[in-house]
Amino acid sequence: MIPRHLPRHLLRGVAASTALLVGLSASVHAAPAVDSAVYAVIPRPVVLTPHAGHFTLTAKTSVHADPAFTAVGHRFARDIANATGFDLAVVSSSAAAPDVIRLVRVRGADTTALGAEGYRLDVTTTGVTVRAAHAAGAFYALETLKQLLPVAIFRDAPISGVRWDAPAVHIEDTPRFSWRGAHLDVSRHFMPKEFVKKYIDLLARHKMNRFHWHLTEDQGWRIEIKKYPRLTDVSSCRTQTLVGPHVSDPAKQVFDGKKHCGFYTQDDVREIVAYAAQRYITVVPEIEMPGHAQAAIAAYPELGVRRDTTVGVMQVWGVSEFILNADDSTVGFMQDVLREVLTLFPGPYIHVGGDEAVKTQWKASPQIQSRIKALGLKDEHELQSWFIGQMGTFLTKNGRRLVGWDEILEGGLAENATVMSWRGMDGGIAAAKADHDVIMAPGSHTYFDHYQSRDRAKEPLAIGGFLPMDTVYAFEPVPASLTPAEARHVLGAQAQLWTEYIQDAKQLEYMAYPRMSALAEVLWTTTPRRDFTDFMARMSTHVQRLDALDVNYRR
Ligand code: ACM
Repeated sequence: MIPRHLPRHLLRGVAASTALLVGLSASVHAAPAVDSAVYAVIPRPVVLTPHAGHFTLTAKTSVHADPAFTAVGHRFARDIANATGFDLAVVSSSAAAPDVIRLVRVRGADTTALGAEGYRLDVTTTGVTVRAAHAAGAFYALETLKQLLPVAIFRDAPISGVRWDAPAVHIEDTPRFSWRGAHLDVSRHFMPKEFVKKYIDLLARHKMNRFHWHLTEDQGWRIEIKKYPRLTDVSSCRTQTLVGPHVSDPAKQVFDGKKHCGFYTQDDVREIVAYAAQRYITVVPEIEMPGHAQAAIAAYPELGVRRDTTVGVMQVWGVSEFILNADDSTVGFMQDVLREVLTLFPGPYIHVGGDEAVKTQWKASPQIQSRIKALGLKDEHELQSWFIGQMGTFLTKNGRRLVGWDEILEGGLAENATVMSWRGMDGGIAAAKADHDVIMAPGSHTYFDHYQSRDRAKEPLAIGGFLPMDTVYAFEPVPASLTPAEARHVLGAQAQLWTEYIQDAKQLEYMAYPRMSALAEVLWTTTPRRDFTDFMARMSTHVQRLDALDVNYRR
């Protein structure tokens, strides 16, 4: 066993972090002073001009929505109903009237200016007007409006004595990046459906739009596949789990003696995908191959290289050396799995992993070696690329796009592949230069499983590393070495929440927040508007929202 991403990428992370720092004090402009306690919007809007006075939301306020935005209007009305006790009328009309929240759909040149996710928001003493070209923009405008209202708007029942005042303001806002993501590993520790929804809901409140759902691993298979029931019948459970810090000596390993189980039925998946879609979040499923596949091999030993060995679901952390073989039947099996995945996830991107595929079993296997020769390949790296390429061709034929961790570069990139750069930024740079899209996910700035303090003794046990919130905030996803054309391949970035040492939802929230709030601003707000001091001032209000939402953020 090899420990997952220790210490190699931690060392890389240290080297990368100084190069990636952006000027944190660069955003002092001659704009009117904005009271960050009154306008505590996170992520920070691109243009925010305060005005005098406020709008008061009452039971008589109604929502006038363009027909394209009525669903957004209803969601807003439902979302604030518990806290306010108001049952706002939502009317399909964008006519102006007093005491109305208007959702106006713009046309013509404004459509280009606002794009798929941008909006304008005007709060005046008589009403609120939202302008957007698409529903996502209208949704984000109303998320901003909620942040302008008292923090009690995030509670689930009316708190007495609250006046629902929003300060008058003009806001113009569009995101810097189209991929504003967060990953969640539900394989090392299963996370219940209710929590997955809460995680998604919190992302939406931060205007994030990609949920990368890491569904399969050595330590558990978590998605129902009808054609291959043993994947969940057998491999959604492990009999026990390693406790305490990483120890490689099996004689010194201590286990909890408890079964750990869980998976999502296809109906659970549909429910979560729909829940995310209502919040303008695309779910990106990840099915790992050819490595990180011990659970799959435990269910179907014929997928493995060592047919003489039966192996169970992994009970310790680190990377298993059990790897898929490269038979046509195994390629067909994984394509069958993807075929079902495609029916559940309508989004354009399907992640096939590709990271940390240990090649020792491939090197030792005469069958694999003759397969490499028969396919006219040079080595095991090229075999991995061939394997991933089979998935890429399949996905392209089905109108989807393959995403893989940066190891998919090693034996040649599959056509159309999008690269997720985790071992620093170099993989992303190489992919962008090769004309491929890139999502930045470097350990140095986006691995939220790392410690939040140098004083580890005061923190819950974590995998290692050190990633405080200010380092997250300083992340610059576009490397300076890219030309403008290459830089356009950087779709954005995302947080990683690996769960070897994260056992439940409350600990997950502790690792995710407030760092996720910082990353949300990195991915939405233009660089000159990023200012850590100003961000921290707004955070003092924002944490009250997290409190109201019962988020166990690190204080
Ligand atoms: C990874 O952390 N193995 C992508």
